[in-house]
Amino acid sequence: MTRKKNTQLTKQLLDDYHLLSYDEVDSTNSEAKRLAEGGAAHGAFIWAKRQTKGRGRYAREWVSQEGNLFVSILLSPDKPMEEIPQISFLTCLAALESVAPLLPEPELLTCKWPNDLLLNGRKLGGILLESFETIEASGPRRWVVIGLGMNITGCPGNLEFPAASLKDAGVEIISAKIVLSRFIHHFIDGYGIWQEKGFAPIRRSWLGHCEGIGKEVKVSLPQENIYGIFDSLDSKGHLKLKLPDGKTRKIAAGDLYLL
Ligand code: BTN
Repeated sequence: MTRKKNTQLTKQLLDDYHLLSYDEVDSTNSEAKRLAEGGAAHGAFIWAKRQTKGRGRYAREWVSQEGNLFVSILLSPDKPMEEIPQISFLTCLAALESVAPLLPEPELLTCKWPNDLLLNGRKLGGILLESFETIEASGPRRWVVIGLGMNITGCPGNLEFPAASLKDAGVEIISAKIVLSRFIHHFIDGYGIWQEKGFAPIRRSWLGHCEGIGKEVKVSLPQENIYGIFDSLDSKGHLKLKLPDGKTRKIAAGDLYLL
């Protein structure tokens, strides 16, 4: 996404940004939480070369072999709770933008609701958003950790949802570090847009890259599977599903399968 520079806001985010790098942690999301509890500040990017307990959505394992990208961002956004999941969409766009110019066929990159990055229909990256509170002298403070895992040099086989890596796409010389520096730049830019203009420009841009609009899908929720046509994304980031009876159902979170 391109934006006109608002130097005030861009500077503010750049001022807050700081990078902490590790050879190995259990999970960069867990480390971000520990850092917040120990007094760390908004704007920390936590990068690890390896994770021993990387995790995905719904407590799934995120296999974290060295060479791939594992990064979490610690944020203390001044936004209502219901808007926080929108950060996943701007993160997915930042991940897409950070690798698109490196690919021979960038149009093969797509965003899958709610927070996956696909390459030729296979999962290249995933995003895990978690929030929690710390108690400070001034009262409770809400934190958000947004974790991104991206397959650069390899990916596990035999997953329920097939995975891909940049190497599979013929991108051999790119390291996690290069993708990280590009991602930081695009994330700071996207986060600034969200703060300044809200979700509308993020939503527009995300829809321009989205997988599955107008197609038959299954949305898997913890208690039920829902079938319908993926109609659109609403102004909050909820999936709008056209049901067989003609009604529309809005879904805040779930697993999407293209049929
Ligand atoms: C998913 O697709 O289920 C989300 C995967 C998120 C993985 C990343 S890797 C960096 C950060 N640390 C974690 O333990 N998980 C996220």
